[in-house]
Amino acid sequence: MRLFLAPMQGVVDHPMREMLTGIGGYDRCVTEFIRVTNTRFPEKVFKRYCPELLQGGKTLAGTPVYIQLLGGDPHWLSQNAAKAARLGAHGIDLNFGCPAKIVNRNDGGSVLLKEPSRVAGIVRAVRDAVDPAVPVTAKIRLGFSDASLLSEIAGGIEAAGASELCIHARTREDGYKPPAYWQHINAVRQQLSIPVIANGEIWAPADALEAQRQSGCTDLMLGRGALACPDLARAIKQQAVGVVPELMPWSDVLEGLTDFFENADQPCPKYIGNRTKQWLSYLRRQYPGAELLFQRIKRLGTVAEILAAIDTHRSLDVEAL
Ligand SMILES: Cc1cc2nc3c(=O)[nH]c(=O)nc-3n(C[C@H](O)[C@H](O)[C@H](O)COP(=O)(O)O)c2cc1C
Repeated sequence: MRLFLAPMQGVVDHPMREMLTGIGGYDRCVTEFIRVTNTRFPEKVFKRYCPELLQGGKTLAGTPVYIQLLGGDPHWLSQNAAKAARLGAHGIDLNFGCPAKIVNRNDGGSVLLKEPSRVAGIVRAVRDAVDPAVPVTAKIRLGFSDASLLSEIAGGIEAAGASELCIHARTREDGYKPPAYWQHINAVRQQLSIPVIANGEIWAPADALEAQRQSGCTDLMLGRGALACPDLARAIKQQAVGVVPELMPWSDVLEGLTDFFENADQPCPKYIGNRTKQWLSYLRRQYPGAELLFQRIKRLGTVAEILAAIDTHRSLDVEAL
């Protein structure tokens, strides 16, 4: 079984990838999407999205990082993909799943799922342009409004030369509403010979088993669940070898969160604490302690105030939990 950390714009950036892959269990990460219109980006753009390029394209834990591109123009996507590969990306992932209106209005993301031949054309152009040693993969949803084109989309992606296909088991219209329809992946998986990766709504080791059962996929991609449970991938892998999975206690997560705040969350005075609050908003789904800490820091905006609140939380709330 392979587990992939999902790309999440504004959330799963370099510090978050380092933190989560440092805990373990992940076989691959994907950067946030780089939106391509009609330019070939300079090197610094790829290095901004993927600072791992400076360390061999892997996180410090050794997990390879693919660069994700999004757009509707095969020419410019190929140009940028070839450049990312030359800079050392371990793979190029193409985003055909983004539901954002602004992105869809500009001919990118899930809107392309309405036109399977365009999706295939993009994959083919990118595949042809990129060094054959570098994998090109695609990430899709079940469809735009329904799953009626799924088989055609997936078949086209395989025929165009993609090495793997990740399917987020919801349509664009489903947004992020539960459930994820893992069973819809199964038929299309059987039709393809490339590996298919199931994604969506995996929050706990038991969900991973159920996603595998319904989709028939062995490989999974974890998104929001990876943020709610920082050791989810490790726990899923333990479960796979027969060990009863145990998730980290809140006191351990809190140490990681404090490090994250101190080292990765002070980009400019206006935004101090925002990334930590954002991460807490995922963690509180799993940990009551995260909710308590979120309430303590949500209106604070200086390093000193937030560190003091974390200390208070540690001495008052954590004891009481
Ligand atoms: C805040 C946020 C940002 C996302 N950004 C991206 C992205 O940049 N590229 C992408 O392919 N998917 C993106 N996604 C979708 C996730 O990769 C994933 O497919 C989706 O969240 C479903 O998985 P989950 O239920 O495990 O979270 C994003 C999702 C969220 C919630």
